[in-house]
Amino acid sequence: MPLPANLHLVRNRLAGKLSQSLEPALNLRLGVNVDHVATLRQARGGHEPEPVAAALLAQSAGADSITVHLRGDRRHIQERDLRVLKEVLAIPLNVECAATTEAMEVIIPCKPSWVTLVPENREELTTQGGLDAVFLQGMLKPVVRELRGAGVHVSLFVDPVLDQVKMAAKLEADAVELNTGTYSDLPMDSDPSLELARLRDAARLASRLGLRVLAGHGLNLQNVGPVAAIPEIEELNIGHSLIGRAVLVGLERSVAEMLTTMGETRS
Ligand code: PXP
Repeated sequence: MPLPANLHLVRNRLAGKLSQSLEPALNLRLGVNVDHVATLRQARGGHEPEPVAAALLAQSAGADSITVHLRGDRRHIQERDLRVLKEVLAIPLNVECAATTEAMEVIIPCKPSWVTLVPENREELTTQGGLDAVFLQGMLKPVVRELRGAGVHVSLFVDPVLDQVKMAAKLEADAVELNTGTYSDLPMDSDPSLELARLRDAARLASRLGLRVLAGHGLNLQNVGPVAAIPEIEELNIGHSLIGRAVLVGLERSVAEMLTTMGETRS
């Protein structure tokens, strides 16, 4: 599929920087979610800002993967975005979606590196809570199998609950993404130790069961440190705070600041 001309320009401009960004700076990866760039584009229904350009800028700034959420209501990312991202990115593409036949029909032909299965409610502003893999195991099993059969790695977005982690392993997912939403939503003056202990225990169990461990939701420069310090976590997926800050300081600086902050608590 031909690339839009402006994307060729962005890609060419970044080509020199790319080799540097592929050197892993720390043993914790950063996945950048660019949904909110698409949200802004959709507000006018036009072409700007271009989420694919944002993904390329994040890549050049050191992001290790790009995440997009293909929602059933297509409120931000469109099918065309998946196709173009898959074509231009040098780093893995992770597509979040509900475990529906419709989503699979669109996503599997694009062959992203990863699919993260998430719960999806039409009215929600953002993903609310993790997938109840225990309750939904019968429905999830064929979807996980279909994705893996197509050569796509599968991650389940679950709350840091041991039974959910065990079910992800039983369903033969490749990874869990632990929902940090409850931790992130804690009031500034409250004690985060209980939520951090839940994340630590879930991460340890997932790793022991052979799952790769990711985490995300609501992370920002202020709260990312203690989550980044959990040694079993390989990757953090961050969207809203990165794009929000990018509006003020630019996406490359926003991503660079996050990578530096993640590295501060990671040995
Ligand atoms: N992980 C999952 C599964 C999500 O649904 C989201 C939000 O799209 C994120 C991570 C990123 O959350 P945030 O935008 O709050 O950083």
